[in-house]
Amino acid sequence: MPEGIQRSARALSPTVTLYEPAVFGALQLSNRVVMAPLTRTRADDEGVPTETMAEYYRQRAGQGLIISEGTWPAAEGKSYPGQPGIVTPAQIDGWKQIADAVHDEGGTIVMQLMHGGRVGHPAISGEARVVAPSALAAPGQTRTPQGKADLPVAHALTLEEIPVVVEQFAQAARNAIAAGFDGVEVHGANGYLVHEFLSPVSNTRDDGYGGSTANRARFAIEVTEAVAAAIGADRTGIRLSPQHNIQGVLEEDAADVHATYTAVAEGLAPLGLAFVDVLHVDPAGELVQHIRRTAGAPLIVNTGFGIDTTRDAAESLVDDGWADAVAAGRPVIANPDLVERWTQGAELNPPRPELFYGRTAEGYTDYPSLESVRAGV
Ligand SMILES: Cc1cc2nc3c(=O)[nH]c(=O)nc-3n(C[C@H](O)[C@H](O)[C@H](O)COP(=O)(O)O)c2cc1C
Repeated sequence: MPEGIQRSARALSPTVTLYEPAVFGALQLSNRVVMAPLTRTRADDEGVPTETMAEYYRQRAGQGLIISEGTWPAAEGKSYPGQPGIVTPAQIDGWKQIADAVHDEGGTIVMQLMHGGRVGHPAISGEARVVAPSALAAPGQTRTPQGKADLPVAHALTLEEIPVVVEQFAQAARNAIAAGFDGVEVHGANGYLVHEFLSPVSNTRDDGYGGSTANRARFAIEVTEAVAAAIGADRTGIRLSPQHNIQGVLEEDAADVHATYTAVAEGLAPLGLAFVDVLHVDPAGELVQHIRRTAGAPLIVNTGFGIDTTRDAAESLVDDGWADAVAAGRPVIANPDLVERWTQGAELNPPRPELFYGRTAEGYTDYPSLESVRAGV
């Protein structure tokens, strides 16, 4: 067992290994290493994916499933300069070349739909406001094209506006399918809009979307239901990060967290999702395994930002039955052919974090493949 992973629940599928294929709903995975969603800010100023992005994803198609970088379903949900959208015809066309490139290499790709909520800025999105469950600002500053600025106090979505945002997710999902994607992941993690509804700190509403754990879970469930209704539950997944405590979305009361995520998982269970993707420091622990059992969907796990995902941890998590697949982030940024390297026990390229969010091909499409290293080119 990798360090930090405790056996607190019984393994569910002990005979499968990380490098075996999987079927998650309508998604076919050639192995159980998933490319984690990774914002890389290389789209053009209109949020249109570029040819360089197609090359980046094509290089990484050997992972069993690619989850795209967080992509905005509405301009108000754009968090960072260079983040792509899936709203305009040009954006849909730009994504088509990416879906085609990944499929040409035999890969499978879903799009992460990320509404940034209060983590954003009018100077980044070109919109008048940022929106959130409550009129609160996320702590800290963000980098706008005009320089650093405090994250703004959000407009609290009204009861009339919430269904509009839910429909933006559904339309974005249809657009992703129109672009040739195999499915969609709702971003319910890491302090962005859907996650903001889940925490009692960022959600202080006293209507049907706030207060009780069931009410705070409602938005995540409604968004996922709408996406599943639009494109099929067998092509729909959701990412959750309970207790991540990031961007002011705090979940510090263990009993509240358990109840909130039970409500989410119970709401998702009837849908029959393709997968649930959970980022948590202890994927084999009780909370994540409880979410897995309750939601009743294949489980992708990721151990979070503390240390980069390692081969040993990924192999143990799947081989010992704690997860159906493992998402790897930074190792896939630096190693387009990570699965090949892990199966061969080959050396890994180190990531260059200073270029994670660049606007050029440097530190993006120029990490060498194992083949080119061996050929000395
Ligand atoms: C550069 C970078 C960008 C990221 N962008 C996203 C994102 O768009 N959506 C998301 O859900 N997580 C995002 N994450 C989190 C990763 O998906 C993953 O959870 C994290 O990197 C930990 O996994 P690792 O140790 O394998 O890198 C990002 C992480 C990094 C390093």
